[in-house]
Amino acid sequence: MANLVLKRITGRTKIWFIIGDPSAHIVATALFNQYYFDNDIDASVSALNVVHADLPTFIQAIRSFRNVCGFGVTLPHKIEICRYLDHLSQRARQIGAVNFVRRDPDGSLSGDMVDGIGMTKALILNGVAIQGARVLQVGAGGVGRAIAFAIADAGACELTIANRSLARAENLAQAVQASYPACLCRVGEAVAPTGIDLVVNATSVGMQEGDPLPIDITAINGTTAVAEVIMSPETTALLDLADEKGCTTVRGKEMLIQQLHLASVHLGLQPQ
Ligand SMILES: NC(=O)c1ccc[n+]([C@@H]2O[C@H](COP(=O)([O-])OP(=O)(O)OC[C@H]3O[C@@H](n4cnc5c(N)ncnc54)[C@H](OP(=O)(O)O)[C@@H]3O)[C@@H](O)[C@H]2O)c1
Repeated sequence: MANLVLKRITGRTKIWFIIGDPSAHIVATALFNQYYFDNDIDASVSALNVVHADLPTFIQAIRSFRNVCGFGVTLPHKIEICRYLDHLSQRARQIGAVNFVRRDPDGSLSGDMVDGIGMTKALILNGVAIQGARVLQVGAGGVGRAIAFAIADAGACELTIANRSLARAENLAQAVQASYPACLCRVGEAVAPTGIDLVVNATSVGMQEGDPLPIDITAINGTTAVAEVIMSPETTALLDLADEKGCTTVRGKEMLIQQLHLASVHLGLQPQ
């Protein structure tokens, strides 16, 4: 299979990159390349290790590479990259971060942010209703910002945001509340109350072996859904505990899978 994938890459292939620092943990490239193979799309993506100081050089190079259709953005560049782009989608502007950038033939760069919609699509696909839901989200970093706006946009009636740095949680809760007045948005503790509809881990806590649980879910039962952003490992201690309790669980990988099509559409590799 790997051989077949490699033989397809020619001078006609649309190339793109996912930039991050570090870059060794990036697994999305494998999922995208498999997706292109399965869907007969002539495109290929690799990870690039770009440090913060090299962003201007990277941007200048990308503008000049005529067979490059764009790039993806991961830690720590999702916010900083915005200032180098020519256009931002409405949701990227609202969130203040970007995870996919299209390079148009004139070299101009357009950013979008689909982390949040990836999560809401994965939730809906797993039968988790967001309309009218009461949600506890832990994490207010790049991915947390995207998910909070997407959850409010999908019609949640209450969103409580907990975060290690309180100021970030407050800032996010205020921004979401201002954009979605129908969703009661506030800051709270990372402790899930009995009967809450949905709990989301949007932190990186759980990536390392021995990490504590990011959220105390002692009080919930099988009526609460639990979603996780972490992709590696595929299953975290939080998800294991939620599975034991009979909760519907949504994995970080499922959130990324929902972004394969969305990102490819934004990069001009697939029709809507
Ligand atoms: N599944 C997907 O499609 C997908 C997409 C993108 C990212 N991700 C994953 O999402 C995770 C977060 O990414 P990000 O871009 O949001 O990163 P980020 O902007 O650096 O934010 C990290 C978040 O985790 C919190 N955090 C980190 N270490 C902590 C600790 N020891 N204790 C408590 N809280 C801690 C941070 O709290 P503070 O604000 O206090 O620092 C912040 O809320 C990563 O694991 C990433 O791989 C998944």
